[in-house]
Amino acid sequence: MLYYKNKDVITMNKIKKPIMKLISKVVNSVTQEVTAGGDSAPFEPADNLRLMCRKMGAEGVVMLKNINGVLPLTKDNIVSVFGRVQNDTFYVGYGSGGDVKVPYKVSIMDGLRNNHFININEELAAVYEKWCKENPVDDGFWGHWPMCYEEMSVSRELAVRAASKSDTAVVVIGRAAGEDRENKLEEGSYYLTDNEKLMLTEVTAAFKNVVVLLNCGSVIDMAELYAYGDKISSILYIWQNGMETGNCVADILTGIETPSGKLTDTIAIDYADYPSSDDFGGRLSNDYTEDIYVGYRYFETFAKSKVIYPFGFGLSYTTFEISDSKLEVETDCVTVTAKVKNTGRFKGKEVVQIYCCAPCGRLGKPARILAGFAKTKCLEPAEEENITISFALSSLASYDDEKEFSYILEKGKYKFYIGSDVRKAERFGEYELAEDVVTEKLAQTAAARSEFKRLKADENYNKVYSHVPTAQYSLKQIILDNLPEEIERTDEKLSFSDVRDGKVTLDAFVATLNNEELEAISRGDYVMNSPLGTPGNAAVFGGVLPSLREKGIPAITTTDGPSGIRLKAKASLMPIGTAVASSWNLEGAYELYREVGLEMVQLGSDVLLAPGINIHRNPLCGRNFEYYSEDPYLTGKMAAAVVKGLQSAGVSACPKHFACNNQEVNRTHNDSRLSERALREIYLKGFEICVKEAQPWNIMTSYNKINGVWGHYNYELCVRILRGEWGFKGSIMTDWWMRSSKSPEFPKLADQAYRVRAGVNVLMPGGGRTGKRKPDGTLLRTLGKEGGITLGELQQNAKYILNYALNSSAMNKE
Ligand code: BGC
Repeated sequence: MLYYKNKDVITMNKIKKPIMKLISKVVNSVTQEVTAGGDSAPFEPADNLRLMCRKMGAEGVVMLKNINGVLPLTKDNIVSVFGRVQNDTFYVGYGSGGDVKVPYKVSIMDGLRNNHFININEELAAVYEKWCKENPVDDGFWGHWPMCYEEMSVSRELAVRAASKSDTAVVVIGRAAGEDRENKLEEGSYYLTDNEKLMLTEVTAAFKNVVVLLNCGSVIDMAELYAYGDKISSILYIWQNGMETGNCVADILTGIETPSGKLTDTIAIDYADYPSSDDFGGRLSNDYTEDIYVGYRYFETFAKSKVIYPFGFGLSYTTFEISDSKLEVETDCVTVTAKVKNTGRFKGKEVVQIYCCAPCGRLGKPARILAGFAKTKCLEPAEEENITISFALSSLASYDDEKEFSYILEKGKYKFYIGSDVRKAERFGEYELAEDVVTEKLAQTAAARSEFKRLKADENYNKVYSHVPTAQYSLKQIILDNLPEEIERTDEKLSFSDVRDGKVTLDAFVATLNNEELEAISRGDYVMNSPLGTPGNAAVFGGVLPSLREKGIPAITTTDGPSGIRLKAKASLMPIGTAVASSWNLEGAYELYREVGLEMVQLGSDVLLAPGINIHRNPLCGRNFEYYSEDPYLTGKMAAAVVKGLQSAGVSACPKHFACNNQEVNRTHNDSRLSERALREIYLKGFEICVKEAQPWNIMTSYNKINGVWGHYNYELCVRILRGEWGFKGSIMTDWWMRSSKSPEFPKLADQAYRVRAGVNVLMPGGGRTGKRKPDGTLLRTLGKEGGITLGELQQNAKYILNYALNSSAMNKE
């Protein structure tokens, strides 16, 4: 049997092209049967949703360069568009995050044509149209999608002829992104292909005005493009903007929208300059030796000269002046006020960014940390706006994972910088602490279990390496000390709606559930596309047994996520995560995802498996497109806005993948090894902000191990940190399927019992990969036996799920 997403079942690498094509056809048809079915029912996305897709897609476009005022285009320009991606546009990444049955897609060329103001060199457009038809793209199949599409080779004659008919060239370069595989340090993935270089060389030789659009899921090598110098006038990351991609691009090129996107990642000169480049892609494990020095935290501290485009960078057609910056600190609350004035000729928005240089004391600290930001409204020329940015001083604290196991604000000067990117930000205020302040006392948790050395900054920002502290506690004892009480069983006949209506308590209801029911609640309905849910669902959980449904527990439909609703029916396709985050527009992200939430209600999805909150640790991670940034603060704020937007429509978000799913290679076995400090300050911080600010109703664990323990068996992350420290009240689900294993602390517990004791409530989709529709038996096998799982644990597990179910859109449908 072929599983549509199980790359272990068929390994293709060595199979020849024609056979690949055949298999591709078969697998795609299986895929469609399982998840899609190609619903032909007409579907019209809501006007507001289209509008928000277009607006947020355009706001995420990051302009890196624009010399000689080449952009925006005027109605006098005639534009020659090069690159097949003008027709074969990348709208989203491959995999679960983008597999939406989209009702329509606006290619880059369609978008330019929709904009009647743009004059296109139609002769060249016809050449591309013909070539694209004669050389159709093949999207391959799961995990074997193309990294890019083969490019037409541009001859000197073609470029020269185009230049004789037009004054501006737009060159589009496209890169696919995708789940379950990495981008590669190869031509056609991270680097340009020969044909792309040829195209750039011929076009830059023939044209004075050359605009390069990067239709990519994540950052690619920029050194080659940079080397063209002024021969390339403009460079824009347009990302992948879902169904409205072409319209977003046309809006930006013509100045209907002024670019206001900012990089959410640092772009380094060379791949080797990224601090994780030596410890990424290992099959079994990766030591996060760069520790907390991820992205700009590393570059601004140790390697300023290795940066081409700094974090937060992005140009506009207009210019802004930030003035009257003031800092006020009152106990834990920092407030920054400033005035932003549009000093140029075009309307536009600016992102004001606040960075802090905190004392680099005993614990070491990056030279800059993003502390807060705000985006202005669209300012007309000469218009001003007063902005206020607030954040907690304690959010700048460092986690001491050596001695105190606490967040500490180290004594000394906290210098604050304001500006439009991490490099340009200028010092405008400071605050001094006379003594160290412990802002949160915690305990050593989820610490490293293996030995390696990590990077640290000494007081002069020199690199030093020291041993990562390892776990010094008995996890077994901690778990035993916190086992939940059993609820005494009754055989009353209670209905779940009585709990909703406040007539009986949840405890009283749970007391009536038998073992079989408790087992069923702890897993989904075994398969993707469960018949209990909306067709094409990712899985269904909750009322998966007739007896549970009779009691009134609803069957809850989950769908991917993040770029739209993946169902059999058609649904809208959103801009990718990186594009949304590049807008730095939290209200916009909220509004966009509120619209998605409303579409979920319309289409019958209760839980969107989104947002993706993992950190861009390395530019090659295949799923970076679904995630937001190298920075945890921006990530957390963006995720919180998305979750609030979705949940304001009455449906649930499900942030993922908790935690450290920072690479796709061997993702179900890989161990992310890191210090507790890096874990808390970088990799968990986005989740923490999101959970505390937006209270998602569900959360998904990761496939990988974290310091030796799989996400779906990770008591320390799920029970101690997520629930214990952050107060998470919702339900925790696994990523799809899980690894079989025994608890090292409790050898009698395996698989589902190990998982439930670890506080991971629901196995998704619920069955093993054999496709058998029955429990694997591991949950109840040891129930009530010495050293086995307890009734109290099963009941508490059910309570978390039912507490969400009570508040779910599925319940309110009943
Ligand atoms: C992905 C998840 C996704 C799930 C369901 C997994 O392979 O890692 O992000 O939500 O499948 O499709």
